[in-house]
Amino acid sequence: MERLILDTDLAMGAPGSDIDDGFALALCLADPQLDLELVTTVGGNTDVDTATTLTLELLDRLGRPEVPVHRGARDPLVRPRARQGSLPAGMAPREPRPEPAATALVEAVRAHPGELTLVAIGPLTNVALAMRLDPGFAGGLKRLVIMGGVFLQHTNEAGMPGEFNIWCDPEAAHAVLTSGVRADFVGLDVTLRVRVDRAQAEAMAASDQPFTAFAGQYTQAWIDHLAERGGDEAVDSCAMHDPLAVAALSRPDLLTWRDAYVAVELGDRLRGAMLADFHPERGKHGQEMDLEVNARVAVDVDAAAFNDYFTTTMGEIR
Ligand code: RIB
Ligand code: CA
Repeated sequence: MERLILDTDLAMGAPGSDIDDGFALALCLADPQLDLELVTTVGGNTDVDTATTLTLELLDRLGRPEVPVHRGARDPLVRPRARQGSLPAGMAPREPRPEPAATALVEAVRAHPGELTLVAIGPLTNVALAMRLDPGFAGGLKRLVIMGGVFLQHTNEAGMPGEFNIWCDPEAAHAVLTSGVRADFVGLDVTLRVRVDRAQAEAMAASDQPFTAFAGQYTQAWIDHLAERGGDEAVDSCAMHDPLAVAALSRPDLLTWRDAYVAVELGDRLRGAMLADFHPERGKHGQEMDLEVNARVAVDVDAAAFNDYFTTTMGEIR
């Protein structure tokens, strides 16, 4: 049994918002090999208050209202770029547990040193703040899995050179990369290959299980949004970025990893872009390098096996 904490910018349930954090939360609860002990929220896909209310609502919907939720950072560490979201009409804002997320993270890890895995599926602001608050935090984690980055390709987008979670708060990513923890990065190179298509979303929407029907409807809306935003009616699926990071815990067979030295760009032009050097001990041009491996990067995924796992595990939700 893997004991875990989920740090999320969940937006499932807000019209026109990304849905993958919601599926990641559901997977944490549905997979019998996972034991979700704490959820912390962060601004990213939506603002942190909206993410917090939607997380509490989703936990109710999934029949697990007792899972503690703590609200985290409203803004990135250095440059404000908080996205303002909105709750669906008629939904009242809700209050989580009183301690801030970074405090809750530090306290959980101090209480259970070496036992908890943190899966971070939003901007890394809370994780960096916890590391600042307690220098022992990074070393106290059993494992840190991050959905973030793109390493073998790039975004091909000058306006957002980095993957979204890293681009939102590159200084937080830098703090994590220089903390001494060897994090596992599940980036766009692999997450874009695990997808839910319109037919699957329609089947979910027709389910008589309330969470599945709800998630199916919002997945259809998200695929519509992506098609509209891209001006391409042929778009008929969306990526399951965050669920793949959760799946890495109970299904290590799904991903292939490589050790790397990873750095993040903090300047203006390529802000949030990441470099993964898979041979940090020597340069390709013969120069001596003095870089230490600080990450494992997912470089390949068995997308069909993920799909089976995802569909079967989601099917267990009652
Ligand atoms: O780039 C993918 C990440 O940003 C995911 O965490 C997803 O929720 C998105 O908005
Ligand atoms: Ca996310």
